[in-house]
Amino acid sequence: MSTLNSPNVSALLERLSNETDASMPALEAVAQSEASRLLTSRTEYQTLYGLLKDIPIPVSRETGLLLYMLARSTRARHILEFGTSFGVSTIYLAAALRDNGGGRIITTEFEPSKVIRARNHLAEARLFDLVEIREGDALQTLSRDLPDTLDLVLLDGAKGLYADILGLIEDRLRPGSLLLADDAHHCPEYVQHIRADQRKYLSIPLTGDLELSMRL
Ligand SMILES: C[S@@+](CC[C@H](N)C(=O)[O-])C[C@H]1O[C@@H](n2cnc3c(N)ncnc32)[C@H](O)[C@@H]1O
Repeated sequence: MSTLNSPNVSALLERLSNETDASMPALEAVAQSEASRLLTSRTEYQTLYGLLKDIPIPVSRETGLLLYMLARSTRARHILEFGTSFGVSTIYLAAALRDNGGGRIITTEFEPSKVIRARNHLAEARLFDLVEIREGDALQTLSRDLPDTLDLVLLDGAKGLYADILGLIEDRLRPGSLLLADDAHHCPEYVQHIRADQRKYLSIPLTGDLELSMRL
């Protein structure tokens, strides 16, 4: 039995998936504007995500299940997420923590309306007790009060910042800690860093433009 199969969680994930499908025209409209230029920016990401503030843009169901499996199989207790949005990936991760017997996810979001939505979704899923949402720019909110070790990290916020975020949390990774970066090719500095020193990380690209890495 998995928390993912509990009626409140599965019904919510289904509803959020339908909402995501319905938001595709709005997402395409933003994509046709200047989104692609802003997507990799290290300075204008707030403009991009302001345009996307009512759009869920979650990880796929497959990525959600992968996150759940990674967190379960490593018996993760401390998880960090860059980019909460409506809370879809957070639900998969929190469900894994519940089934692992407890733990904490720190997740980060700077759009206030998305923080409210994510909080409501996590409460509806009865998983909010496992989650701390840090509101504000992750460059600030992740620069303090982190757990001594992080078992699993999801990078899914502004792509241009992946290397900066890694710099903030790198000293919390232990041998065996996992990192999953979504749309990693939009941050070549991150991919270069993580693949450069094979004594420090093992790293592989997965389908869906994910980069899965393990601290050695
Ligand atoms: C792709 S969405 C995250 C989707 C989420 N992981 C899920 O699967 O449901 C990226 C989110 O990161 C937020 N974000 C981007 N850059 C950020 C930053 N520097 N600090 C905090 N939040 C950020 C955006 O507002 C957006 O909601």
